Amino acid sequence: MTHSQVIGTGGYLPEKVLTNAELETMVETSDAWIFERTGIRERHIAAPEQTTCDLAEAAARRAIEAAGISAPDIDLIIVATTTPDQVFPSTACLLQQRLGIQGCAAFDLQAVCTGFVYALDVADKFIRTGSARHALVVGAETLSRIIDWSDRGTCVLFGDGAGAVVLSASDKPGILSSHLHADGRYEPLLTVPAGISRGYDKVQAGQAFIHMQGREVFKVAVNTLGGLVDETMQANGLQRSDVDWLVPHQANYRIIEATAKKMSLPMDRVVVTVQEHGNTSAASIPLAFDVAVRDGRIQRGDTVLLEAFGAGFTWGSVLLNY
Ligand code: UT7
Repeated sequence: MTHSQVIGTGGYLPEKVLTNAELETMVETSDAWIFERTGIRERHIAAPEQTTCDLAEAAARRAIEAAGISAPDIDLIIVATTTPDQVFPSTACLLQQRLGIQGCAAFDLQAVCTGFVYALDVADKFIRTGSARHALVVGAETLSRIIDWSDRGTCVLFGDGAGAVVLSASDKPGILSSHLHADGRYEPLLTVPAGISRGYDKVQAGQAFIHMQGREVFKVAVNTLGGLVDETMQANGLQRSDVDWLVPHQANYRIIEATAKKMSLPMDRVVVTVQEHGNTSAASIPLAFDVAVRDGRIQRGDTVLLEAFGAGFTWGSVLLNY
């Protein structure tokens, strides 16, 4: 039976760092408030000429190099993003062109902050059914482009970046299970209420911004992620203590801590990057995963739980053997 295994990871953060101190000069906020409520100290912001595809390309090249394959070996590209370069072609097709690959399937996937988890599950299914052997799965965002920089409730939270993995066919189990969910009834709590079909005027006027009812999102996220952890453990007949590493979506340190507590997992088994990255939506999990692989925390054979929650609402987990 064919399984899929992560054989390489990569990440990229734009050069510009926006600190809480700088935000204090932009809106009525404080480093103390931001850090206490979210755990965030700084985030990276793309340069004006940098697009999501630029970030995705840098992360993808690092993942391909780490995997020890060459770009033409890739036969599937999925880019999870909410901030694509253009309406079409997809960012995945733009990325394919940049990497000098032709012919393989390439598409974007939109599940907001859960996008990378969704994309990893889709790639796993392509590989297990024999439709692909080397999938490039990317989460990439330029969220700074859909932020109202005068709204202190949202502008302190988000950042730009990209993370990528190469997922390849393997005899040994890598991805053990995936669990994807959505409930569209929660649309009003977290939304960018502008777009192509509803009318392009807000987009053209530069008013396509994130609107969030933070406190409500927070409560649903904590409860939902608790249930998701139980679902994932039960599906695999595992105890929570069997998990070596939790790599959560990086929205808020307090949400991450609540999930770790639910798993009775000490915080030193949780990969936390929110303090330096902020919330990079679909990029947050692959970026955190790459950080922990490169600094030697996540080792071959470790059991790793990835979990995310985001607009939609969407939520999902992937349990894998690295
Ligand atoms: O990735 C997708 C999922 N997204 C999330 O998971 C985000 C979930 N939500 C959160 O992380 C938190 O709800 C926030 C960090 C957004 C907000 O934290 P909170 O503890 O829920 O604060 P709050 O929204 O209840 O606001 C508390 C107070 C308010 O003032 P009043 O009404 O109590 O006088 C806000 O106006 O803090 C005020 N406030 C701020 N103060 C200083 C809101 N934003 C700021 C700010 N600086 N940046």
